[in-house]
Amino acid sequence: MRFRTKENGMVGKDLVGQTVKLAGWVLRRRDHGGVIFIDLRDRTGFVQVVFNPEINNDAHVKAQDLRSEYVISVEGIVRLRAPDMINPKIATGEIEVMISSIEVLNTSETPPFMLEDEIDTHEESRLKYRYLDLRRSPSFDNIYKRHLVVASFRRHLNDLGFIDVETPILNKSTPEGARDFLVPSRLSHGDFYALPQSPQIFKQLLMIAGFEKYYQVAKCFRDEDLRADRQPEFTQIDIETSFLDTDEYLTIMEGMMASVIKEIYDINVEVPFPRMEYSEAMEKYGSDKPDTRFDLKLVNVEEALEGCNFQVFQNAVQNKFIIRCLNAKGGETLSRKDIDDFTKYVSIFGAKGLAWMRVTENGLESNIVKFFTEENQAKLIKATNAEKGDLLFFVADTPKVTYDALGNLRLRVAEKLGLIDENKLNFLWVVGFPLFEYDAKERRYSSTHHPFTAPIPEDLHLLESDVLSVRSDTYDCVLNGNEVAGGGQRIYDSKVQSRVFTTLGISEEMAEERFGFLLDALKFGAPPMCGCALGLDRFVMLLQKQPSIRDVIAFPKTQKGQCPMSACPSSVDEEQLGELGLQIQK
Ligand code: AMO
Ligand code: AMP
Repeated sequence: MRFRTKENGMVGKDLVGQTVKLAGWVLRRRDHGGVIFIDLRDRTGFVQVVFNPEINNDAHVKAQDLRSEYVISVEGIVRLRAPDMINPKIATGEIEVMISSIEVLNTSETPPFMLEDEIDTHEESRLKYRYLDLRRSPSFDNIYKRHLVVASFRRHLNDLGFIDVETPILNKSTPEGARDFLVPSRLSHGDFYALPQSPQIFKQLLMIAGFEKYYQVAKCFRDEDLRADRQPEFTQIDIETSFLDTDEYLTIMEGMMASVIKEIYDINVEVPFPRMEYSEAMEKYGSDKPDTRFDLKLVNVEEALEGCNFQVFQNAVQNKFIIRCLNAKGGETLSRKDIDDFTKYVSIFGAKGLAWMRVTENGLESNIVKFFTEENQAKLIKATNAEKGDLLFFVADTPKVTYDALGNLRLRVAEKLGLIDENKLNFLWVVGFPLFEYDAKERRYSSTHHPFTAPIPEDLHLLESDVLSVRSDTYDCVLNGNEVAGGGQRIYDSKVQSRVFTTLGISEEMAEERFGFLLDALKFGAPPMCGCALGLDRFVMLLQKQPSIRDVIAFPKTQKGQCPMSACPSSVDEEQLGELGLQIQK
């Protein structure tokens, strides 16, 4: 073999005395008084190779010129290291390879940052030289584990009889509620394709086509504001089935997720996942994706505080706002500055203030306690299960602001108090979302998921009379406070679909124009169908314990939607624009 007979990470004690040929990159080079040590890296790890002039002078001379990231192929004999040289922290730490010949396959410029496991290089620079960043073993491991996770999902889905079908990338707009990326048509000036926000409509058409079980590892494109858990293009493991009720479907999904995690991470996840109604999630956690790794919950304190003299809460009652309390258990360690920081933090979510009380051996203490009667205080202590050392936080506002503010504060406080066990994987299904939400700006109802989502059958009669209380037959899968998958039962009755469009203020013509092909298809014997999409990037990010989905994507975009390596998006020349019939507005 020309370059190698073994991979570097695989050279172990079992090969002692044998000749091996190895190839890879120079990770580190140490010159110890005439003997040169090199850590030679490939994707499996690294091994120490030794150039001793007494073994081969020629190879030793060549090794003097080696620098970081040179690519070499070497041949030598594996031997045990001296006992005091053994490094138990690395897989190949017990052996080294005494080199008898070397071929330098390529040189390298000095890399812009060290390719060590731990670096504090700015992300922009790591992304500009992503191919170098990916040589680092933690970066490689993220992408490698992602591959294993996908392969495992595919295996499970294939075994269960799911069929992998590709759906178009050049599309008509799909209704996931984000902004579309558009592609201008050269052959039909003024017309545009939209890149798919998801394969939603196509997978429903595949059910109508009789496929029964579909999946796809699907690229999705959404032009939305980016965050640590969002990219403009991301990957879903997209699934759709026919003839399954929600219980049957969720059993398959949770079983599969648990099996994949067991297979790739050897972690046992308990099934079935707990299920929680959306209303309970909001009321107890102030969030539709509650992090259940710790126990802080919101408490309704309206009754306990009835009759108090605190202006803010009196106004809240008058305005029909809600008042909720978060008991930060053991919050006595939080300083006045922490409380001020929290107050600033909740203002991001629209809260106009953050009232607080410390629970001490003398009872409640704070600048506002004087406004509350003995009875208020006693009831409050009882309702919040307050004990000495706790710190109570209050927000009074509209439900949206109150839940947003306290739900997010809950996470902040847990982080600050060290209540989160990073080793837990807490899954749950959140079910029974409202089918519609009211869009105050547009003054109309919009779909919480998408307009093909089925209402829960027992709520169907409310579709015209009490729109906001209609629940959808949907489920979100939450892992450690992140939405990792979402889906639901679809409408398969074109009459129900029409009623939903009417509620959404989508006229028949508009519906025909936008989704006519689906509405037509629904008339030809559509089966009951349900499915979901798993956000692969988020799922792997959480399993790999990474702070951002960029870490588990080989070539991600920055928060600004740019690629520092290729410098896209970038301008195009006039000729290209002309062919597309486009002009740029200055
Ligand atoms: P949804 O819009 O909830 O549902 O998307 C499904 C899952 O995809 C992930 N996700 C994202 N990941 C990274 N970056 C983004 N910008 C992004 N947006 C979403 C989330 C989310 O849970 N067609 C429906 C699914 C269905 O009903 O079957 C859909 O796309 O983890
Ligand atoms: P103020 O009377 O405005 O100085 O507020 C007294 C305390 O109540 C401060 O700690 C404010 O942060 C808090 N506060 C003000 N508005 C609200 C609100 N809507 N909900 C909860 N606390 C509030």
